[in-house]
Amino acid sequence: MNILAIESSCDETACAVVKDGTLNLSDIVASSKELHEKTGGVVPEVAARKQMEFIIPVVEQTLRKFYGDISEKDFQEKKRTGDDIDSIAVTVGPGLVGSLIVGVEAAKSLSLAWRKPLIPVNHLVGHIYANFLKTDFVSPEKNIEFPAVALLVSGGHTDLVLMRGHDNFEYLGGTLDDAAGEAFDKTARLLGLSKYLGGVLLSKKASECEKNNIAGILPRPMIYEDSFDFSFSGLKTAVRRLIEKKDYSIEEVACEFENAVCDVLVEKSTKAIKKFNVKSFLMGGGVAANKQLRCRLENKAKELGVSFYVPPLSLCTDNAVYIASAAYFTYVRGGKTQEIGNIKVNPSLGIMDQV
Ligand code: KG4
Ligand code: ZN
Repeated sequence: MNILAIESSCDETACAVVKDGTLNLSDIVASSKELHEKTGGVVPEVAARKQMEFIIPVVEQTLRKFYGDISEKDFQEKKRTGDDIDSIAVTVGPGLVGSLIVGVEAAKSLSLAWRKPLIPVNHLVGHIYANFLKTDFVSPEKNIEFPAVALLVSGGHTDLVLMRGHDNFEYLGGTLDDAAGEAFDKTARLLGLSKYLGGVLLSKKASECEKNNIAGILPRPMIYEDSFDFSFSGLKTAVRRLIEKKDYSIEEVACEFENAVCDVLVEKSTKAIKKFNVKSFLMGGGVAANKQLRCRLENKAKELGVSFYVPPLSLCTDNAVYIASAAYFTYVRGGKTQEIGNIKVNPSLGIMDQV
């Protein structure tokens, strides 16, 4: 089954065609990130306007890639009928309302024009399903065994969930204030590294630190508390105080900050793996691209005899490939359907909210 998916929750406009939720046949991502770097943060109105500008070309290019080397006449005919596409999937939330509406309305139009079912997808669930994609054409579907613990660490969310099966999530905990990615971004800004989405740059700076002379100086918020919740906003404030003292190098502060965030995420994930005696551990979201976090959690899972999964870097940040995968495993395989008229954007969707 081929699903064409659309993702437009923030500043990326993405479309993909994925076979059976696991094989990426074609995907395109356009981004307005550069504009938001200039303003030091995403301006929702600007992001939505860019979504409108990009959506048609992105869908068109995805289809061209999918249909491959055929005549222009044949392409136009296939594009008219949606030949070989079985369903449409779209992110309905969480995200910026204006951006989401562009993707959802485009998906509804395709669904009506091609007479194909439309599947609503929770973006946060999508991030976790990036783990189910195959990396090549020949390998079999990944046999990710349940129960599994999934750690979602993105720009706006940090959640730990227990997956008992597809579309069967139990909430364990999440951040009470800032998300891990948000903490990375705000700290990168405090360190003067980037005005927008500075996680990668902060991590790079941290790797340049030869010796961390301030190891342990920052708090590890809630690390030993008896819950699966997180809190990262105090960490950012502690970084500000450190910077004000001017005694420490940027590399040292970056390193100490990254270690503090990773310490907490690793500790809580370990606790969840042990408590629920799971078979697999999955990561997802932009911060899952963080090298230290990936390595430490992989080693920890190995130590505990649990299978470890993390998406390739290209599937950690926003794209439509994992939206198609989530649609397949949580909707199609579960035999779920949804009336197109009931599909609406929900900017404040949580990971446990049904769509
Ligand atoms: O999942 P995502 O693309 O967007 C949301 O759905 O929120 O995540 C973006 C977040 C940003 O906060 C970005 O700084 C962070 O992921 N990020 C990283 C790294 N790469 C991206 N944070 C730490 N280390 C990285 N290597
Ligand atoms: Zn995301």
